[in-house]
Amino acid sequence: MTGSPLVSRRAVLAGAAGVTGVGVLAACGSPAGRLLTPSGTAVQATERARRHTGRTVTASLTPTAGRLDLGGVVVDTWSFGTLPGPTLRARAGDRLVVDLTNHLPAPTTVHWHGIALRNDMDGVPDMTQPPIAPGAAFRYDFTVPDPGTYFFHPHVGVQLDRGLYGTLVVDDPAEPGAYDHEWVVVLDDWVDGTGRTPDQVLASLRAGTSGSGMGGSGMGGMGGMGGMGGMGGMGDGSSSPLLGGAGDVDYPYYLVNGRVPASPVTLSGRPGQRVRVRLVNAGSDTAFRVALGGHRLTVTHADGFPVQPVAGDAVLLGQGERVDLLVTLGDGAFPLVASAEGKSGHGLAVVRTAGGSRPSAGTVPTELDGRVLTVADLGPLASVTLPGKRVDRSHDLLLGGSMRGYRWTINGRTFDEQQPLEVREGERVRLRMRNATMMFHPMHVHGHTFAVVDATGRPGVRKDTVVVRPMQTVLVDLDATNPGQWMTHCHNAYHGEAGMMTTLSYRE
Ligand code: C2O
Ligand code: CU
Repeated sequence: MTGSPLVSRRAVLAGAAGVTGVGVLAACGSPAGRLLTPSGTAVQATERARRHTGRTVTASLTPTAGRLDLGGVVVDTWSFGTLPGPTLRARAGDRLVVDLTNHLPAPTTVHWHGIALRNDMDGVPDMTQPPIAPGAAFRYDFTVPDPGTYFFHPHVGVQLDRGLYGTLVVDDPAEPGAYDHEWVVVLDDWVDGTGRTPDQVLASLRAGTSGSGMGGSGMGGMGGMGGMGGMGGMGDGSSSPLLGGAGDVDYPYYLVNGRVPASPVTLSGRPGQRVRVRLVNAGSDTAFRVALGGHRLTVTHADGFPVQPVAGDAVLLGQGERVDLLVTLGDGAFPLVASAEGKSGHGLAVVRTAGGSRPSAGTVPTELDGRVLTVADLGPLASVTLPGKRVDRSHDLLLGGSMRGYRWTINGRTFDEQQPLEVREGERVRLRMRNATMMFHPMHVHGHTFAVVDATGRPGVRKDTVVVRPMQTVLVDLDATNPGQWMTHCHNAYHGEAGMMTTLSYRE
């Protein structure tokens, strides 16, 4: 049975058919109970128990193929009409009702990244819902439990690497709001409509041809490493001291709020004002190092959850990560630069509080080489610290790559042949993620905000996406309080599509 699917995605969706899959699992020596299905009674009970404000926020999304101007660079792409897509806004405890009508020529879904929502609204095709066919509609309807900065994107193929993303801000009624402005700043690596689509990029990565990879191939650095060891990503000069192998795709553009550096957006304020910057990395294959020339940054939230404020010169974000920053504005015009970590190129926005000339498109603030804040610098506020507790169940996730084809794996398996990570409701679960490759992987768990286990072994900063560096092991703990079937995967869109995905699978 090695190599055959244990529980197919369709079996999970079908529910009853999932029982058959469980039989197969049990034969493997796993004491599995029945699957808690995405719209089963446990999911409904958990949704009913969520605190409600009684308010409903409605919105509509119409993913569409069309032409967009990125600031002099005009592309045909898929988007929600603008780039970034709309910023949706609710308060913690609100019900969010979003009507999606699919005007794309392909099936799609929307995943609400980071939200601990009811499982059947999670937007994973064939697992939590059927894909939404071209011309069809779907209503997303769920409670948003936790305040913070989140985003949304399709969960089909590499559609994330088109223009299909937007920010979801969930306000905290108890938030002191000690700032004058709030800016949503979304970072992206851009290729679509510049001669290649993301699907073509993936196809050439799979074929091992030079059209997409950095330095001639997506496999650079793996020669001689063998086995699970050395899928390194790009070729010479494309690695980062902080992250190792920097990515598989050489992008022509890096965008801040949908604009190329030659024609940046301007974020305006007055000298001395305090600004909350909600920073989202919506890129598919790129981590960004972000700095604001002439300023220090204070990180206040990571993936939506508050941290003990920490100041630095720059901050590093993997794909799918968000940070909230507090900045006190200086007097002038300053470059907000998102440097593509380990790659060449950057995105730019201009922060302006006075007249004067605009920073040039090529500006690189010295702050980028100052103190760069990463997850290691962050600790949770007491209000969101996961209490210390005995771990009931641990799972190992060995992150690997294979020399045969463009294949990224968890425990040696691609998603099609996954062995789900079984949990039961109420358990404290530990995931041990060990990266056996030469490239970083931003690992994301749906429907939960885990705690990154700190150097002392205690549950630390709350996150839903955490970068695992080459050869590093990262432990995360979570409380299994949101029943259902939850994707757990690398948020490099190409790695995920090439197999680096599995399921956190609740069982009876
Ligand atoms: Cu934003 Cu499954 O991901
Ligand atoms: Cu990865």
